[in-house]
Amino acid sequence: MLILVTGAAGMLGSALIPAFVRAGHQVVATDIDLRDAHPWGAFGPALGHLDVRDRAEVAAAFQTVDPDLVLHLAAETSLEVCDADPDHGYLTNTIGTKYVALAARAHGCPMTYISTAGVFDGTKTGAYTEFDRPNPLNVYGDSKHEGEILVERLVPQHYVIRAGWMVGGGAKKDHKFVSRIVDQIRGGATQVFAVTDKLGTPTYAPDFSRCLLGLIGSGMTGLYHMACGGEGSRYDVAAEILRILGRHDIELVPVTSEHFADEFPSVRPPSEIMRNMVLDLQGMNTMRPWRQALAEYLHTEFADLVRVSAVA
Ligand SMILES: NC(=O)c1ccc[n+]([C@@H]2O[C@H](COP(=O)([O-])OP(=O)(O)OC[C@H]3O[C@@H](n4cnc5c(N)ncnc54)[C@H](OP(=O)(O)O)[C@@H]3O)[C@@H](O)[C@H]2O)c1
Repeated sequence: MLILVTGAAGMLGSALIPAFVRAGHQVVATDIDLRDAHPWGAFGPALGHLDVRDRAEVAAAFQTVDPDLVLHLAAETSLEVCDADPDHGYLTNTIGTKYVALAARAHGCPMTYISTAGVFDGTKTGAYTEFDRPNPLNVYGDSKHEGEILVERLVPQHYVIRAGWMVGGGAKKDHKFVSRIVDQIRGGATQVFAVTDKLGTPTYAPDFSRCLLGLIGSGMTGLYHMACGGEGSRYDVAAEILRILGRHDIELVPVTSEHFADEFPSVRPPSEIMRNMVLDLQGMNTMRPWRQALAEYLHTEFADLVRVSAVA
């Protein structure tokens, strides 16, 4: 297939582009961030410019590429930025998605939209499934949920895929939780603080890419959860990082979200735990347990930090 990808230079794109190229697809990768024109090294396409907030640019990209599928990854993923500037959040995540969806519809092109566990309010006991009702708590969650609704309404052949806490991107692209912990370790921290009151499901970008390839290959369109197996708090993830790296000398301090209230003022759902129920029911859930995926990530991308004494 000829595939147009938006937001390709981010954490997910860094795994997804090589996976789709390796699978034999022709990929046109775009982003607003062109600082690194070859984020995948020699392997994969050069990055082209596409700002999804620009309706004319989106339409022109579809006209030029005439894709068989669009993978829409572009988003403003910072909750704090979205809450501080809702116009920017909704313009990027909702209106930008509308432009891509309208262009996809005009070209009879199937569309894949990546959404988030952050569409839920986090009050449920147990894992969220595709049959639970979204109730976002912040601008990011709401703008992504509105994007879901538009894609479902506008594009007949759609895959709306909710990911959990993204794990991926390596030293260059990772700007989420794992890199925050890794950066502190690299900086010589003797203490690391992590919250026990936020639960979720890490989602390893290479596993996500592999599972998505299988799903798209099947043609089974619809709404899906696609997170790694299991669940945990941010504290659990940090503890696992330290264990995998063999850093038993670093003290992990359990705190509540109050501790980070100044740095991360946005309201976050207490639980973003997801189960891939529809993939399970369709026999298509290839996502591994998160601890296994996290070990692979750290050993692959941060091998220099793994102590020889660490247990694999
Ligand atoms: N990260 C997570 O934990 C997470 C969890 C669940 C779902 N998701 C979803 O997964 C998708 C991929 O996210 P990711 O984790 O790869 O995040 P990411 O690393 O922030 O990547 C998003 C990419 O989109 C780009 N972008 C932002 N505004 C754009 C615009 N107007 N036009 C074109 N590109 C634009 C970003 O560029 P800049 O860096 O320059 O802004 C970035 O390169 C997103 O739809 C996100 O909502 C992410």
